[in-house]
Amino acid sequence: ARADYGPYTPGFDIVPYGDLAVLEATGTVLQNKYSEGYPGRRYYEGQQNIDPVETLAIERAKALFGTEHANVQPYSGSPANLAVYLAFAEPGDTVLGMSLPMGGHLTHGWGVSATGRWFRGVGYGVRPDTGLIDLDEVRDLARKERPRIIFCGGTAVPRTIDFAAFAEIAREVDAVLVADIAHIAGLVAGGAHPSPVPHADVISTTTHKTLRGPRGAMLLSRATHAKPLDRAVFPGLQGGPHNHTTAAIAVALHEAARPAFRDYAHAVVANARALAEALLARGFDLVSGGTDNHLVLIDLTARGVPGKVAAKALDRAGIVVNHNTVPFDPRKPFDPSGIRIGTPSLTSRGLGTEHMPAVADWLDRGVAAARTGDEDALAAIRAEVAELMAAHPAPGLPLD
Ligand SMILES: Cc1ncc(COP(=O)(O)O)c(C=O)c1O
Repeated sequence: ARADYGPYTPGFDIVPYGDLAVLEATGTVLQNKYSEGYPGRRYYEGQQNIDPVETLAIERAKALFGTEHANVQPYSGSPANLAVYLAFAEPGDTVLGMSLPMGGHLTHGWGVSATGRWFRGVGYGVRPDTGLIDLDEVRDLARKERPRIIFCGGTAVPRTIDFAAFAEIAREVDAVLVADIAHIAGLVAGGAHPSPVPHADVISTTTHKTLRGPRGAMLLSRATHAKPLDRAVFPGLQGGPHNHTTAAIAVALHEAARPAFRDYAHAVVANARALAEALLARGFDLVSGGTDNHLVLIDLTARGVPGKVAAKALDRAGIVVNHNTVPFDPRKPFDPSGIRIGTPSLTSRGLGTEHMPAVADWLDRGVAAARTGDEDALAAIRAEVAELMAAHPAPGLPLD
């Protein structure tokens, strides 16, 4: 069965592989049960096993992140964020978020998203000289636009988020501060990124990225915000919770509370740093000049190859990345100038900082081959990738 996966090794994806225990929980009969409502307050009977599972997930989420309230029912990160709008804003209200091309997420008020169509999205960005979030711009926009909600956190942000600074701005303009830690939740849980607690009013996160859980999401908050958030998720936006996912979230939260997870989170960051350094040494242009977290955003403009061309060539070399806009990108989002890479998957497969120069070398040669269309060079990289990754199998894949 392993051979079915071939040499194709998605080792560079942002999202790590779920542990076997998470995959097992996701595949249980819990998915057969409807349970609209919350533990002890359901619209269906027969919740003798469901209520304890959801309560366990809630308690584990609260304990792991140190929050007073947790809702573990959002189907994924996007509906979780939409629930926040439903809880705290009216259609047409202004929301301030990092704009998509600067590294923010669609659901932070970008025009093509429901959040940008039903609300008035205003976007902040990064400074052109440093590639870091421009907090002066955030403050100026907040004072001028008086947003109801401010989002911080993003989808292509390689640096630490200064939650305290955002909280100060939100307080000044009486906005609800939402820290979207979808990408970095596992780093926060593992102590490898500062926590948004107690700065943010609401913390929104997916559970399937660095947290290594199933595809799902959570909303965390102080007790004072519990009611509007719960009502927004159900009955405001969703119907029955996905109980198999809830069980898998509970499993992932248990794993994330173990000391080994702290090691994992720190290893993810150490690998990203080592990879960034190795890329810089090979002349790559990195947005913000490096990374503090799990993510590296490469601007390929100087390499003379568009992000999509590079990403497709790397795919043929057995290396999965995604083409991504870079701040102030002169190219279109569907054909941007950059590629985005992350180290959670590599780290899940047991690679360490000692392997990162080789990874950077593959990327270097792969991008060069993309520019010249050298398929032989890509095939050679693919063979090297397959050899190393065969010694580091992906967790959760069948081994025989
Ligand atoms: C910061 C951020 N928020 C929200 C989401 C949305 O999550 P989902 O894709 O599960 O809807 C993502 C997904 O990439 C994200 O990066």
